[in-house]
Amino acid sequence: MGQTPEEIIDGQRQDWNRVAGGWEKWDRFFDEQMAFLNHRLVADARLRSGLRVLDLGSGTGYPALLAARTVGPDGTVIGIDLAEQMLNAAQRKASSLRLSNVSFQTGDVTTLPFDTASFDAITSRFCLMFLPDIPRAVTEIGRVLKPGGWLSAAVWSAPDKNAYLTTPLAVIKQFIELPPPDPTAPGIFRLAKPGELMRMLQEAGFVNIVEEEYLAEVRFPSGEEYYESLMDIAAPIQNLFARLSKQQQADARNRIVGSIGQYRRADDIALPIAVRMVAARKPFG
Ligand SMILES: C[S@@+](CC[C@H](N)C(=O)[O-])C[C@H]1O[C@@H](n2cnc3c(N)ncnc32)[C@H](O)[C@@H]1O
Repeated sequence: MGQTPEEIIDGQRQDWNRVAGGWEKWDRFFDEQMAFLNHRLVADARLRSGLRVLDLGSGTGYPALLAARTVGPDGTVIGIDLAEQMLNAAQRKASSLRLSNVSFQTGDVTTLPFDTASFDAITSRFCLMFLPDIPRAVTEIGRVLKPGGWLSAAVWSAPDKNAYLTTPLAVIKQFIELPPPDPTAPGIFRLAKPGELMRMLQEAGFVNIVEEEYLAEVRFPSGEEYYESLMDIAAPIQNLFARLSKQQQADARNRIVGSIGQYRRADDIALPIAVRMVAARKPFG
């Protein structure tokens, strides 16, 4: 039997709290590698000085921190997330960057604790596919946005274009049987299908919807670094890995490090990623 929405939310909270230390450990590396996605989200949400912005599933502050820089001292950004420990890390970074116009609070994206029409724009990176009821969250996004406000969201695209994420999954499958993923169950690839999030936004009344599959790579100095960093931060992959015995885990590690050798180039290892970038606007009314 599938999990209830409450169980999914609880699981997400525990999962991401557990890996918060890993996110902090690898923060600089992933910021350098993936900052371009934050810039894209900030642009797609049409952020500029003075706006009031909500970032959904902010985690350790992406893209909330860049949004805060962009809206400047006359604007404000609120980052919401289930996992308090991820947000604590985000808050520490905001303080060290001396950004006083951004704050973080715990909460569930499917029941946003904000007034109707209270934000000029909303951003979200790698969160919406983990929600138990995405259409409900999309309705909530439409409710709290002001008329004319933009949503920009990044979610993972197709598994076969995301070797960065699927390499460990393919190896884990060599040891244990993984049931074929339920396309409607929350998870990394829940919104990978072209047009899926777009359709939900259309049904919720959004306009000017644009979707693009955005291809890039994450670059690593070594296979070991790839393995350590991904395993430290990717809660869903950690959960599957935990089902292997100690010996299987050691073997799987070697196979993962070995199999990404095919992505080695002269100076580094470049793992492909494919991100679905979606932007949409709440109509003026
Ligand atoms: C992969 S992390 C992404 C964090 C950040 N946006 C980034 O791109 O670095 C996913 C985040 O979504 C949060 N999340 C998952 N389900 C959520 C929900 N229903 N409400 C709020 N946050 C949620 C998790 O706690 C986690 O911090």
